[in-house]
Amino acid sequence: MSRSSTAALRPRLPSPLADVDDDRFARHGVRLLLKRDDLIHPDLIGNKWRKLAPNLAAAQGRALVTFGGAYSNHLRATAAAGRLLGVPTLGIVRGHELADRPLNPSLTRCTADGMRLHFIDRSTYREKGDPAVLAALLDAASAADSFVVPEGGSNALAVRGCAELGRELQDHADVVGLACGTGGTLAGLAAGLSPGQRAIGVSVLKGDFLTADVRALQEEAFGGPRGDWRVEERFHFGGYARVPAELAAFADDFEQRHGLPVERLYVAKMLYALVALTEAGAFAPDTTLAAVISGAPFEDAQSSTSR
Ligand SMILES: Cc1ncc(COP(=O)(O)O)c(C=O)c1O
Repeated sequence: MSRSSTAALRPRLPSPLADVDDDRFARHGVRLLLKRDDLIHPDLIGNKWRKLAPNLAAAQGRALVTFGGAYSNHLRATAAAGRLLGVPTLGIVRGHELADRPLNPSLTRCTADGMRLHFIDRSTYREKGDPAVLAALLDAASAADSFVVPEGGSNALAVRGCAELGRELQDHADVVGLACGTGGTLAGLAAGLSPGQRAIGVSVLKGDFLTADVRALQEEAFGGPRGDWRVEERFHFGGYARVPAELAAFADDFEQRHGLPVERLYVAKMLYALVALTEAGAFAPDTTLAAVISGAPFEDAQSSTSR
């Protein structure tokens, strides 16, 4: 059994909403707010709290199994949740070759938090959605009775948990910007907004699959489409975990202007996109734009190109 429920971890909810003064927005008549989900909890940061808390409740103390790449924020958050709540965790990691190498800082943190790691080859990893492949994987990892949380944590429970983020922003913003990986946070956030509000999900991945993925997640979580949202696909900077010099310089500058630690793989791309869209006239004067700060930097992962 778990030691305690997530409520005992005292999340800071609703997360703070901060007004920021930034001339790149102000000169277009756009008011910028930062929705500080990075301040919800020191270990379960941002959308990790919103997605994991309902899953932890549903798991009722059973061991958690989840999936991720070598620098996955989601793996680290799951490991931390396990430590905080006394729940065993298993991380199935993409890349069999990593098994024979020293652990990177992100995976080191996972194991320090008590997570057991199981490395698998990339083609099996891609097939993990197939029930037979999943069952074989769990069996091989001695985790057949565990509660399975998908990669990125985006299942129906998580998506419904992210709707609360949208509800917290009702009456506060016209447009909400956030970064998308699996699209689960966008699927939930959009469902929680009021009519008249809209969300823009900035994809950090190269490709045009996210709109369909978000629709599928909303179907699974709510039984159909919800809210006014779209995916912006032009700001991936080369793909997942790519942080070219221009993006790094943008993030450094944003940190200096606003004293905000900017997570590079997701948050920086989203903030860059909001500046570029504002400068391109995408928002009418008098628009209030809320940028969701969905994560915080993790030391050595910042400029990595590893996946
Ligand atoms: C900091 C941060 N922001 C945003 C996201 C995207 O969330 P989603 O996978 O729900 O699209 C992630 C996902 O891992 C993340 O770590």
